[in-house]
Amino acid sequence: MCGIVGFTGRHQAAPILLDGLEKLEYRGYDSAGIAVAQGGAAASGAEGAGAASVRGAQSVSRQTVGAGQPKGVSEGGTEPSIEIVKAKGRLKVLREMTDDGRSVPGTCGIGHTRWATHGEPSVVNSHPHYAKNKRVAVVHNGIIENYQEIRDRLTKEGFSFISATDTETVAHLLDKYYAGNPIEAISRVMFRVRGSYALGILFADRPGEIYAVRKDSPLIVGRSDQGNFIASDVPAILRYTRDVCFIPNLEIVKLTDREIHFYNVDQEEVEETFSQVNWDTEAAEKGGFAHFMLKEIYEQPKAVRDTVSPRISEGHVNLEELGMSQEDLAKVSRIQMVACGSAYHVCMTAKYMVEQTARVPVDVDLASEFRYRNPVMEKDTLVVVVSQSGETADSLAALREAKKLGYRVLGIVNVVGSSIAREADSVFYTWAGPEISVATTKAYSTQLAAVYLLAIGLGRAKGMIDGAAEEEMTAELLRLPEKIERILEEKERIQWFANKFSHSKDIFFIGRGLDYASSLEGSLKLKEISYIHSEAYAAGELKHGTISLIEDGILVVGVATQKSLFEKLISNMVEVKSRGAYVLGVTSYGNYSMEDVANYTIYVPKTMECFAASLTVVPLQLLAYYVALGKGLDVDKPRNLAKSVTVE
Ligand code: G6P
Repeated sequence: MCGIVGFTGRHQAAPILLDGLEKLEYRGYDSAGIAVAQGGAAASGAEGAGAASVRGAQSVSRQTVGAGQPKGVSEGGTEPSIEIVKAKGRLKVLREMTDDGRSVPGTCGIGHTRWATHGEPSVVNSHPHYAKNKRVAVVHNGIIENYQEIRDRLTKEGFSFISATDTETVAHLLDKYYAGNPIEAISRVMFRVRGSYALGILFADRPGEIYAVRKDSPLIVGRSDQGNFIASDVPAILRYTRDVCFIPNLEIVKLTDREIHFYNVDQEEVEETFSQVNWDTEAAEKGGFAHFMLKEIYEQPKAVRDTVSPRISEGHVNLEELGMSQEDLAKVSRIQMVACGSAYHVCMTAKYMVEQTARVPVDVDLASEFRYRNPVMEKDTLVVVVSQSGETADSLAALREAKKLGYRVLGIVNVVGSSIAREADSVFYTWAGPEISVATTKAYSTQLAAVYLLAIGLGRAKGMIDGAAEEEMTAELLRLPEKIERILEEKERIQWFANKFSHSKDIFFIGRGLDYASSLEGSLKLKEISYIHSEAYAAGELKHGTISLIEDGILVVGVATQKSLFEKLISNMVEVKSRGAYVLGVTSYGNYSMEDVANYTIYVPKTMECFAASLTVVPLQLLAYYVALGKGLDVDKPRNLAKSVTVE
């Protein structure tokens, strides 16, 4: 949900900002903008400052705002001012407008890529926003909940608003409170606004300085000997540094080209520690694949291996990192899982897996429901929040609600140091590496792996499985990556099939038990990137309504890997086929009777039934990918979606 980047240092800022925004486009891509500080000692003393700037072509989206000097363009970098360039549409429009950043000189700037919440996608609503007296420029990720009230008040005081955004209120508030001390002004704004925010701020009379602050929206600081950075996410600055600090909630940061200072809301300076991110740049690049999604599908064997193997030694699952003793685990009487999107489907799988393996009852809630439903939970309930980004607003709120009610929270998270990782009592990291495509694939697979490990560890602690069963399960878990590789080798068959159905209007998925959980994920994957209407049903529910939608030629995907449910699912497939459906079967090798009913069958390698979801999801991901590709869609950036949903 919106991407922020900022740089101050010894290079031209705009090209670095554009490069960073490109890596953040997955967070929003309906418009983009940059603000670069002009003039002042810091800028003029830096490498490349004062380079010729051609600013003849003024447009509505390009303006120079300054610290009280007459309107217009400052030449030579002496008069402090801020130049802002914004464009509607994908980042490439902004690139073209700025000649890849070359036409906006200056060594200190902030940038933003937008996912609209307040106000339609347009130039005027895109960020950076600025105060009328042209002293402050702001980029924002999050939602200012009381923006209307602040806007009304400021309007009465004489401030005039030009956009429909909540962010513009912050620009005017900063302007109102700013009397030469940026930290003080920011702190006053923090007391005045409600909601969530990550903000990057420039003050025109302080060229070379970037200010940042966050509450409940992610923001990191990166440092290097070439300059310092802010960003919504690590990939944006990975090319320049791996030395990062995840800004703690409610802290303010001041960055210059050589220094970084942190302050609390009371304006006292505080110390923070930096850590090294071990993701490499390549992991955040396409590396020869047409799309990040396909690349990430192919990275699944490695991601699952990286997540599983460090947690298994000599046939045993090691959950020490949770900081819970065997007794603590044995005491868990119930598990409450909460998540959003695909992570919610992981929780559905976990319900079947944990209940079977550990005989611990599992409740599964959408985080957006859980946070408001005033849940009734047993004393020894363990709350498990699953999240790739670790920043999803509803998941984070659910975590806080659970902690407020006094429950222990375990986070299954991919992004190290993210909010959920920091606030959970225990963290179990999935080692998927950076996931860029909006539609999750490898993070989902690693989340599945994580819940398997949790189920086995819990089963053992509770005495529900013995050492031999644990060894058998862990050995099979270690074989999953190689089995996923085998499915990927058959991608052409899926591609061929997908091409036949890329013009479908509706596609249904059916399954039972664990296969139902996989069907939900397959259906979500398909609809998010192909825009084909799709629903997944627990096959037994078909007769209670959905079967009336089945018409000639409609594709129904039946997932059937569970032996005890296989015949039942086959019967459901017969029912839809006899009403005209075209049936695709997804099952394990050996279940050849599937061919008696399915028009086309995709087989996955045999595995223990409890792990089947890790294999069946792969052809479903490929199906969604190739259907979307067949329609010529932008697979990595589906319309209206963003990868990290940091607003409610
Ligand atoms: C968005 C993404 C999904 C993801 C969901 C939850 O909708 O597009 O892929 O499953 O958010 O995100 P999280 O980061 O909490 O796993």
